[in-house]
Amino acid sequence: MSADAIAPVEEIPTDGTLLFTMRTRDGDGATDEAIEVVLSRRDDNVVAYRNYCKHWTDVRLDKGSGAAVRDDELVCQRHGATFDRESGVCTFGPCEGAVLDNVDIRVADETVYLVEEEFEFGSLGGDESRDLSSGGGRIGFDGV
Ligand code: FES
Repeated sequence: MSADAIAPVEEIPTDGTLLFTMRTRDGDGATDEAIEVVLSRRDDNVVAYRNYCKHWTDVRLDKGSGAAVRDDELVCQRHGATFDRESGVCTFGPCEGAVLDNVDIRVADETVYLVEEEFEFGSLGGDESRDLSSGGGRIGFDGV
């Protein structure tokens, strides 16, 4: 299995997350669907989760620049569900007990690599086709 370099470990903020996009890999190297992922780091431990909430799975965790971290937990921007950074378990909120979808990575030589067989690294940042004006197309409790 090939591994694509994502970013140096030191570029992943410990008080936030680093957003990147991976794309499906096919036999010809062509790509189609873009999937956003958030990288979270506590000290030297790095984990990666698909960037969507377990409450409403069509809602991203972030507002376009990576998921927020508060009190050492990832926070969903829509209704404030919180997720343990290292396990991805929802510790509070409407999806309490659910677990974020993990993305396979490894760290070597101070660099984070994507090791998903079906995906290849796309780019740092979010999906360029993402509409940041709609907030995910669902109406939240606060009316946005
Ligand atoms: S969509 Fe994330 S807590 Fe509701």
